Amino acid sequence: MTQAAISIKNLEKTYDNGFKALSGVNLDVRAGEIFALLGPNGAGKTTLIGAVCGIVRATGGSVEVFGHDNIADYKAARSYIGLVPQELTTDLFETVWNTVSFSRELFGKPANPSMIEDILKRLSLWDKKDSEIRTLSGGMKRRVMIAKALSHEPRILFLDEPSAGVDVELRTSMWQQVHSLKDIGVTIILTTHYIEEAEEMADRVGIISKGNIILVDEKDALMKKMGNKQVVFDLREPLKAIPKTLSQYNLVLENDGNKLVFTYSPFEQGNDISNVLDNLKENGIRPIDIQVHQSSLEEIFIGLLNEKNVKDQVA
Ligand SMILES: Nc1ncnc2c1ncn2[C@@H]1O[C@H](COP(=O)(O)OP(=O)(O)O)[C@@H](O)[C@H]1O
Ligand SMILES: [Mg+2]
Repeated sequence: MTQAAISIKNLEKTYDNGFKALSGVNLDVRAGEIFALLGPNGAGKTTLIGAVCGIVRATGGSVEVFGHDNIADYKAARSYIGLVPQELTTDLFETVWNTVSFSRELFGKPANPSMIEDILKRLSLWDKKDSEIRTLSGGMKRRVMIAKALSHEPRILFLDEPSAGVDVELRTSMWQQVHSLKDIGVTIILTTHYIEEAEEMADRVGIISKGNIILVDEKDALMKKMGNKQVVFDLREPLKAIPKTLSQYNLVLENDGNKLVFTYSPFEQGNDISNVLDNLKENGIRPIDIQVHQSSLEEIFIGLLNEKNVKDQVA
């Protein structure tokens, strides 16, 4: 088995006001993977990252980073980690070069200009190295935050909501940059509430809701489960029953046979909408209107939570 980069056991956080933001989180992140922590706002993503990085004081449980306890052996554990926080925090009047170099010094690492150069080039910031950060666009500022996090050559990079407030173009180039970091062996953990981001980036996805990890799975398996679409056909003539020749499809009649509902996953092969349309036509079934409905993240969470509640009751 590959070594876990991060091993989280029964991690709990109750804030001073009594709010329980993490209730017994167990999670192993594998070395070298891209792991997406997916969950709605307020689920506890930033708290979890903070507790691993030593910014938030956990009230129970433990975290090991490459085998080092993140409290007893804080310095060693922290040295493995680069953190790009959700909120951009940096000295706006400093230059890109100085900011990134200084971040490296903070970790007690000897100066290494050629490495800083490499990071800035990798993040397309090289031509901005002498610019003050306040003069940069939002996307560039975010890349400076990534450069800072990479300055001490961490083996693990945390990206907390990297795409929040970032335009589509930049998002795509950032995803490419993250993949290229993975290629050089960096373990990446990102938080997001965008399904597409988890889908695009992650090897594995963990879903967090109300301070609990409710599911961890390979991305492909999860997207198959999550990506259900529904097409609702309003029919000209009500149908009494679904024709036998259509039985291979997941079709259900509603509204006294006036609506035909087709549910499918775009990730399943051979179950595509054009086959269904052809088959409807062959059976003389004519829709007068069509609505497409994609399960939203919200619905998926509700679905997963309901599933979990049912399992808990059975167990
Ligand atoms: N310092 C704090 N004191 C009290 N509650 C907090 C504090 N920080 C976060 N919370 C609460 O903990 C929950 C999880 O927050 P957070 O980890 O930021 O969620 P996420 O990053 O998933 O949006 C939220 O309900 C939030 O309001
Ligand atoms: Mg957050």
